[in-house]
Order: sequence, then structure tokens, then C-alpha cells
Amino acid sequence: MVLYTCTAPVHLYLLSFTLLYPVVLGKNERPIIGIITQEVSDEVFLQYGKTYIADSYVKFLESAGSRVVPIRLNLSEDEYIHLFHSINGVLLPGGAVDVFNSSFSRTADIFYQLAIKASSSGNYFPIWGTCMGFQILTALTSGKDLLCKTSANNISLPLILTDDVSSSKMFHHAPLELLHAVARENITANFHHFGITPKTFHANEKLSTFYRILSTNHDRDGVEFISTLEGEHSLQHIPWL
Ligand SMILES: *[C@@H]1O[C@H](CO)[C@@H](O)[C@H](O)[C@H]1NC(C)=O
Ligand SMILES: *[C@@H]1O[C@H](CO)[C@@H](O)[C@H](O)[C@H]1NC(C)=O
Ligand SMILES: *[C@@H]1O[C@H](CO)[C@@H](O)[C@H](O)[C@H]1NC(C)=O
Ligand SMILES: *[C@@H]1O[C@H](CO)[C@@H](O)[C@H](O)[C@H]1NC(C)=O
Repeated sequence: MVLYTCTAPVHLYLLSFTLLYPVVLGKNERPIIGIITQEVSDEVFLQYGKTYIADSYVKFLESAGSRVVPIRLNLSEDEYIHLFHSINGVLLPGGAVDVFNSSFSRTADIFYQLAIKASSSGNYFPIWGTCMGFQILTALTSGKDLLCKTSANNISLPLILTDDVSSSKMFHHAPLELLHAVARENITANFHHFGITPKTFHANEKLSTFYRILSTNHDRDGVEFISTLEGEHSLQHIPWL
């Protein structure tokens, strides 16, 4: 089993429940998750188009039972609002675009703001970020790019889980066996040169009040970096938990 945590998934679980599944027979009840497309930065691939979604993210969501839709870049805000109300969550993939000044970051920002707004009125709209998606979520929350160099490319590591895991949205339903494996075996794949240290996290009030750390890791040089974060309020608006 391999869990991909490139700079670590940050899961921004924005609050409150309600994916109100229709109970009508014959309707497909599987959640629809949007993946934001990103600008192609590698010249070799430009001949195939200006934007892409890495197939692995589609398979990742489909293997968990979701349906996937692409979220195109450069749509109007109204078009994104319409899309927001037509889907159940968003995934921000890894890649390589400007964190603050790209069509990708503009689109991510719109969904991030909509998710926060929805959560304050009791709707649950999860946003998941892996790798660059993780980085962009922390940048959206803090207004800064807080990553520093870490030596953690092409390395498999166990997660150092924090006490918040047991009450987290992300892990609290995970089978104990899986948590044990994740905590003891080298089964999370890391492909990143940058990360956020717990020290940086705690020094930034916006980050530390918005998220809580669910796991950390040490890079090859022993530098501790955060491998999993979750939105602080992910559980408190979910009445049955
Ligand atoms: C989005 O708009 C920007 C600015 O107008 C443009 O440079 C870019 O090529 C557009 N991207 C796509 C995928 O159309
Ligand atoms: C943002 O990107 C555009 C197009 O690539 C560029 O013209 C502009 O100078 C950039 N702005 C900043 C603040 O970096
Ligand atoms: C990644 O690590 C594996 C196992 O250590 C090694 O076989 C492989 O060549 C490495 N790949 C790269 C691109 O460094
Ligand atoms: C995990 O990998 C490290 C080195 O990369 C190795 O020292 C350790 O024994 C491995 N742990 C397990 C449980 O395989």
C-alpha cells in the first residue's frame, strides 16, 4: 500500500455536513469532486494543450468512489459559483504554478472563499490539497508562501501522528490497522523539496488558528516538516459526530 503524501496532503475540511444524497432509486449517489486544471509549464507538453490534470488524481478519487469533473481555468466568477453549487468538493493537485499569480491560484482562491462562506451557513464543502495544492491552501490562509527547503524527495516515510488524529475528520474513521501501518511502516511517498515546519506554522497566527497538525515527518537532514493538516473546524458543525 502506498499513500502519496507529497509535502503532505492538507485537508482543508471546511465544516459542517450535508452532502444531501437523494434517496431516489436509480440516482447515482456518488459525490462529484472537481479537480482544478493547471497551466502546463513544461514546454515539451505544450503541444498537447495549455492545461492539464494528472491522471493519478482522477484515479485517486475514483478509487474512493467519487465521480470527477475538471474545473477549467479562466471562467467567470459566476460560472465558478454555479459549478460550486453543482459539486460536493474540490481537489487541488500537485504541480508547478505560481502560488499567488496564476489562473490556477485565482480559481483555487474562489473555491476556497466559497467553501468558507458555505461553512459559515452550515454547509460542508471539503477541499483537499496535495503537494502544491497543500502549499496553495496554506498560502490562501496565511497570505504568504511559508515553505522552506526540505530534503524529502523520493523517500517513503511513516507518519508521526499527533494526538489530534483521533478527533480528526480525516483519520477518525480509519481502521486501527491502517493507522498502525501508517505510523510504523515506510508507506507514505514523499516527492518534495519544500515544506512547512511546525515552528513556522505556530509562529503564524492565521495558520495555527485555522488548521491543526495531524502528522509531521523528518526529512533526510532531520528537519521536521508538517505532512498532514486539517481545517480546525471540520468536525464541530457536524451534528452526528
Ligand atoms: C487565462 O488568462 C490568462 C490571462 O488572460 C492567459 O494568459 C492564459 O493563457 C489563460 N489560460 C487559459 C488556459 O486559457
Ligand atoms: C502576474 O503574472 C502576469 C502574467 O504572467 C505578469 O504580467 C504580472 O507581472 C505578474 N504579477 C505579479 C505581481 O507577479
Ligand atoms: C527513488 O528511490 C528509489 C529507491 O530508493 C530508487 O530506486 C529510484 O532510482 C529513485 N528515483 C529517483 C528518480 O531518484
Ligand atoms: C524505513 O526506512 C528507513 C530508512 O529509509 C529504515 O532505516 C527503516 O528501517 C525503515 N523502516 C521500516 C519499518 O521498514
